[in-house]
Amino acid sequence: MIESLARTNVRQYRYFDSIESTNNEALRWAESGAPDFSLVIANEQIKGRGRFDRRWVTRPGTSLAFSLILQPTEREKQNLALFSPLCGIAVFEAVTSFLHLDAEIKWPNDVLYKRKKFCGILVEAVWNGSNLRGIVLGIGINISPDSVPADEDQNFPVTCLETAAGHPVDRYRILQHVLNATDKWRVQIGSPEFMALWAEHLAFKDEWVRIEHSEKSSIIGKVKGIDHLGRLVLADQDGTETSVETGDVHLRPETPDDPGGLHA
Ligand code: BTN
Repeated sequence: MIESLARTNVRQYRYFDSIESTNNEALRWAESGAPDFSLVIANEQIKGRGRFDRRWVTRPGTSLAFSLILQPTEREKQNLALFSPLCGIAVFEAVTSFLHLDAEIKWPNDVLYKRKKFCGILVEAVWNGSNLRGIVLGIGINISPDSVPADEDQNFPVTCLETAAGHPVDRYRILQHVLNATDKWRVQIGSPEFMALWAEHLAFKDEWVRIEHSEKSSIIGKVKGIDHLGRLVLADQDGTETSVETGDVHLRPETPDDPGGLHA
C-alpha cells in the first residue's frame, strides 16, 4: 500500500514493480470499465511511451510513472482537449506548493524548471464507437538524478526534482499532491481561473520559438499566450498573430531573419 494514496480520492489502484507502460495497462482497464479516479502506477517502465511516439525511460526507483483514469462528466467532455494542460497545471501546482519551486508550463503541458523538463504528460482516450470509455492521464516525473536520461537521447534539456530542489524528494508525497491538484482543477477545467493560471505560468513568453509539427514542417513565432480554445498564440515580426493547435515547442535562440514569415 502506498500510504500517501490514503490522502487522495483514488478509488482503486494497481501497482507494478515493472511494467511495459502504465498507459497501456490503464487503457486496457478503462476498456473493461475502470471507475473514475483509478490509478496505475509502476516502479519501472520498460516500454514507456511519450508524445509523438517517443520513448519515455523510467528506471526503477528513480521516478514517478503513473496513469490516472477519469470518467469525465458531461461538462468535462466539452473540454477534452484541456485534459492535457489539466495535468500540467496539477504538476505545476504540486511542485510550487510542496517544494516551492518556480516551475513553468511549456505549452501544451510539459513542466519545466529553469527551462529544463522534469515532467512529461501523455493523455489518451478510450472510445467504444462514439461512447467515451475513459480518459487516461499518463504522467512521468523525474525525481532523482538517476532518472535523467543521457543528453544525446533527448530533444530538449532535462532535469529532475531533487536537482531542482537541492534535497531528497519523497516521490509519493509528490504523487499525493499531483492527484489532489488534479481533483481540484478538473471541476474548473476551461474556467477563466484555469486558463489564467495556465497562461500566467507559460514558459517562453515573449520569446521566439519554433513549433515543430513534423521533421519537415515547423512554424516560428514569438509566444504571446493561449487562446480560449487552449491553442498557443504566436506573433510574427509584424505582430500578426496565429494560433497553433498542436506541435512541439523549441526555444529559438535568435530572432528570425526572415521578416514576416511564420514558416520555418
Ligand atoms: C512526453 O513528454 O512525451 C510524455 C511522456 C509521458 C510519460 C508517462 S510515464 C507514465 C505514462 N506511461 C507511459 O507509457 N507514458 C506516460
